[in-house]
Amino acid sequence: MDSGGRPRQVIRKVAERYPVVLHGVSLSIGSSDPLNMDYLHRLKRLAQEVQPQWISDHLCWTGVMGVNSHDLLPVPLTEATLDHIAARVHRVQEVLDRPLILENPSTYLDFRANTLSEPDFLRALCARTGCGLLLDVNNVYVSCFNADSDPADYFDSFPWNRVVQMHLAGHTDCGTHLIDTHDQPVRPEVWALFALAWTRSKGAATLLEWDGNIPSFEDCHAELLKSKAYMKGGLSELVNRLTPDPVPLAISNPVNFMVPDVMAGAAEMKKG
Ligand SMILES: [Fe+2]
Repeated sequence: MDSGGRPRQVIRKVAERYPVVLHGVSLSIGSSDPLNMDYLHRLKRLAQEVQPQWISDHLCWTGVMGVNSHDLLPVPLTEATLDHIAARVHRVQEVLDRPLILENPSTYLDFRANTLSEPDFLRALCARTGCGLLLDVNNVYVSCFNADSDPADYFDSFPWNRVVQMHLAGHTDCGTHLIDTHDQPVRPEVWALFALAWTRSKGAATLLEWDGNIPSFEDCHAELLKSKAYMKGGLSELVNRLTPDPVPLAISNPVNFMVPDVMAGAAEMKKG
């Protein structure tokens, strides 16, 4: 966001040719610190330059009393937290002049103070603020495993009508717990959840996150393209007790912008 020169020129050029989205980790929407207005205004300037489809960050806090932890830390899921974050989302949306998109984080603990499930918290937050959601399917799997809860229950109460994007990623299995490491292929269990999420959301933009031990572009691209099979319900045998909505898929997906023939088709359509 603070880059000038060539990086800024590259993103401008990319944005001229392709739809782009902005995804951040520094909003700290759950912190008790005041919102960082300098950060927000710089983010808005970048958005004015590249005109993203949307701007997303995480349901978390990353620091307090001016100290940045550089980690996505969980918030207590209570009515008081909901009031606090809803007010901050309103303010962020006023400044950015667009809905904010929030992502479910990977979590490694639950607060005893919790009175709401994460899906119920997100549902209430969306209803109060009009914000949208980025569903990280791997994060659901990681958080549910670590909390000894069922991803199917999470999906059953998730506000699917607010989802505009989904994330996929690999995690590290430490036996007693999972860590969201983004450094390996997507696990089969997460692909199965993605197939369900795709149906339940009726399709949403899908991004593969891979930011450690990054393989060749070809391998990374091949992993991303696996998602197409799951979008078609190719692994329906893995579907568990969740019942997908019987609604046809009709939403275009930015994963297709990675595919040359679709890109060519889209360019022809624009010319026409
Ligand atoms: Fe993510």
